[in-house]
Amino acid sequence: MGIYPNVVTRKDVDEALRGHNGVERFREALGRMNGYNAVVGLIARFVQFSLPFSAGATLLSTAIAARTDLFRDPEEPHVPLADRSYTVARYVFEALVDDFGDHRELAQGFLAGVCSHFKYTNWMRDAETYINPCTQAAALSIYDGYGCNSDVKEVDLFRALGFHLAAELLGDEEFRALNECLRGRHAKLVEYLSKQVVVIRGETYYAYDWVRVHAIVEADHADAGLEGINAALYYYCGNLEVPFLKNCILSGAKYFATVQKEFMANIL
Ligand SMILES: [Fe+2]
Ligand SMILES: [Fe+2]
Repeated sequence: MGIYPNVVTRKDVDEALRGHNGVERFREALGRMNGYNAVVGLIARFVQFSLPFSAGATLLSTAIAARTDLFRDPEEPHVPLADRSYTVARYVFEALVDDFGDHRELAQGFLAGVCSHFKYTNWMRDAETYINPCTQAAALSIYDGYGCNSDVKEVDLFRALGFHLAAELLGDEEFRALNECLRGRHAKLVEYLSKQVVVIRGETYYAYDWVRVHAIVEADHADAGLEGINAALYYYCGNLEVPFLKNCILSGAKYFATVQKEFMANIL
């Protein structure tokens, strides 16, 4: 499907993620979620969990774009024309265009809409208490997974590319699980949120848009993430072996699955 040799395939990634059951844990929690307190708490934590990804991916795309020494077109003989660091970085950046468009405000509008549906007027004051230690731990692990430290090494970049891909892949499953559960078990809430207007910089949206949009776009971000990995391997001109880098990528993907599983085990 992609234009680069498929050194890392979707099958490789699925195999690396097999046995990590974070999305199942999320589905279980969604199934057990009863009463407004549980619904608001779970959604507040899920919204908070989603926050560090765009910041982490921004740093990853910048770190890749800055490595003009690392990614070069093997078919371009003219050195000044051969740099492909931006080509690799833009596959990660693709996910950020959506996120920095309006996704943060949509997430906030969704949470606000859920609270207003349940007439839970104290939510702004109480929301702090919903952010449990596991939510904070997840944020730290997410920055770590994106390789956000001051001295980013080549292996960190490739690990982070795998982490990013797994975050998009499993993010797609998370949003589809949330969408299914809310539509199936909380139809009145979805009906309310679908009519609740959220205005962002003069544009009109609806409170349910955050879930509706992510049940679609995360799959596209995951496709771009996989293509970006194979672009990175194709243009890579450093000294490390490709099979070793592939292992780094898959171990980054596994790391995300572990972070997600830990968070989902404590979301309710
Ligand atoms: Fe997003
Ligand atoms: Fe995404």
